[in-house]
Amino acid sequence: MSDSDKYPSDSGRRRFVKGVVGGAALAGVGTTGAAAINSATTSPGAGGGATQAYAIENTGGPAPRGMPQIPVEIDSDGFIKGVWPEVKTENQGGIEVTVASTEDYKGTGVTYSSEWFQYCGVESYEGIQPDYESDNYFLSDSGAYEWQSETYSAGDRLNINDFSDYTEWGNGIGRAGLGKPATGTWRSQDSEDTIPIQIIRSPLIEEAAQDNEWLAASTDQGVIAWLNKCTHFCCVPGYKQAADAAKFGAENDVYCQCHQSVYDPFSVVQTLFTARPRPHSGE
Ligand code: FES
Repeated sequence: MSDSDKYPSDSGRRRFVKGVVGGAALAGVGTTGAAAINSATTSPGAGGGATQAYAIENTGGPAPRGMPQIPVEIDSDGFIKGVWPEVKTENQGGIEVTVASTEDYKGTGVTYSSEWFQYCGVESYEGIQPDYESDNYFLSDSGAYEWQSETYSAGDRLNINDFSDYTEWGNGIGRAGLGKPATGTWRSQDSEDTIPIQIIRSPLIEEAAQDNEWLAASTDQGVIAWLNKCTHFCCVPGYKQAADAAKFGAENDVYCQCHQSVYDPFSVVQTLFTARPRPHSGE
């Protein structure tokens, strides 16, 4: 199959439109789901329950849904950070709990909360606690790509200026020119728990953000980010990191080597799932 078969020139835009339609359908599902979910989360933990999140779409393999997006902001020096929701206190069933939640994120009507990330044990990570202190910058890990390990040491902040060749970048896996990726960590600096993230600066995202309100609010200069934990059994997938991704048609996608789940980082959709409660911190 040639590249042009798999990637018709207008496919990026069509897929974003599909995401919006799916979201409207999910709004109804959320209402019915809540009753069943309440009984499953009567643990003393905080938060959790039916959660609607934006995610990069799961397009193949056993994963039940996409991986949650992390809204991005780039500061005046070019450093890239993941936005953390507003920290506040809420009364949940008569108990005061601290939550991280932003309603109507940048005027989009979307509620962005830390519950988007509460699965796979991440709900117990220090960095996912609402009031964990962090500047929220994305830091390089050891670098999954040659360019990245040549440019950064582990712990360096990722900077947009290092992604200036994003419209041409390629590494011999799949097609070049879809975007330039990096791997990193978020809100993990003073913790033993590492929250893995992946970002791509992509011309496809830049273009899609021009007529998609959510993408315009949650990406910056073509940079999209997500929590890089497979929703199947919690492995860390990769974009253009595994040569065998091509065997599963995933050479231009995010591919999980554990059981061959595939995610499309250029298709952002709404997902509904049951977020796990954070362990009770004793407040
Ligand atoms: S496909 Fe099973 S953990 Fe990713």
